[in-house]
Amino acid sequence: MGVIISVVNQKGGVAKTTTAVNLAAAIGQRGKKVLLVDLDPQGNATSGIGINKKELKYTTYDVIMGEVRPAEAVVKSEFRNLWALPSTQTLAQGELRLAAFDNKTLQLKKALLQIKNDYDIIIVDCLPSLGVLALNGLSACDRIIIPMQCEPYSLEGAAELLSTVKRVKNSTNKALQLMGIVFTMVDKRLTVNREVMESIKRTFPKDAIFKTEIPRNVRISEAPSHGEPITYYDPNSKGADAYRRLAAEVMQRAAKVGKML
Ligand SMILES: Nc1ncnc2c1ncn2[C@@H]1O[C@H](COP(=O)(O)OP(=O)(O)OP(=O)(O)O)[C@@H](O)[C@H]1O
Ligand SMILES: [Mg+2]
Repeated sequence: MGVIISVVNQKGGVAKTTTAVNLAAAIGQRGKKVLLVDLDPQGNATSGIGINKKELKYTTYDVIMGEVRPAEAVVKSEFRNLWALPSTQTLAQGELRLAAFDNKTLQLKKALLQIKNDYDIIIVDCLPSLGVLALNGLSACDRIIIPMQCEPYSLEGAAELLSTVKRVKNSTNKALQLMGIVFTMVDKRLTVNREVMESIKRTFPKDAIFKTEIPRNVRISEAPSHGEPITYYDPNSKGADAYRRLAAEVMQRAAKVGKML
């Protein structure tokens, strides 16, 4: 059975989507079957792997509303071993409409249970919020990855996120655990980056932080407009190398979840 990993941080622009897309692609290239779930009305993970949002019949929205079976909404990307549950801005209505459901935070979990056996790894790209949709992401997964940009308020944001994770763990998802924090857009020349990174390292247990750091790399920021993950867009770039190393670490940690590999 596949391991479900949600990429979460309520702070915007910290490289959640970049991490979800590039990890998914790099794990696919390692020979594992991967499903990338776009849980953000911005739909950046969808377009980031070259899927044309205008041509979609069904999306994550239809699945979360329980109107379409997940297998019907899944589309194959042009990349190796990589499928997607795509999203468009319609998903924004989900935040409102879910409020009327009895189990409003469990809709994604219910859906993914139906297809969990079809993939080795399912990666969920969450939106920047801790609202109902994001809670669906937290309730549906086995593990979370928190991308973190080392900036002044990062630590406060992480504390708020982790207290939400604790609440979810105590209610809808007892098995939920942190897989790791990954530092993104790292530029060691910046003193603030280095200082915040040090304080985060002092705050969390050593193995809560991935060894791999993702450097700030212009090729990573160019790749989405070409609809390609970095390991395809520029396989020799520093960014591609970093995401391949992160993929190796994630696979190691996923194996310990004990359901696969
Ligand atoms: N390592 C990197 N080097 C350079 N640019 C990066 C890197 N990682 C991400 N970016 C850029 O930073 C911006 C924000 O990244 P991304 O969209 O992945 O963040 P996000 O957390 O998903 O945002 P949101 O909260 O809006 O969903 C994008 O323009 C992306 O291309
Ligand atoms: Mg995003």
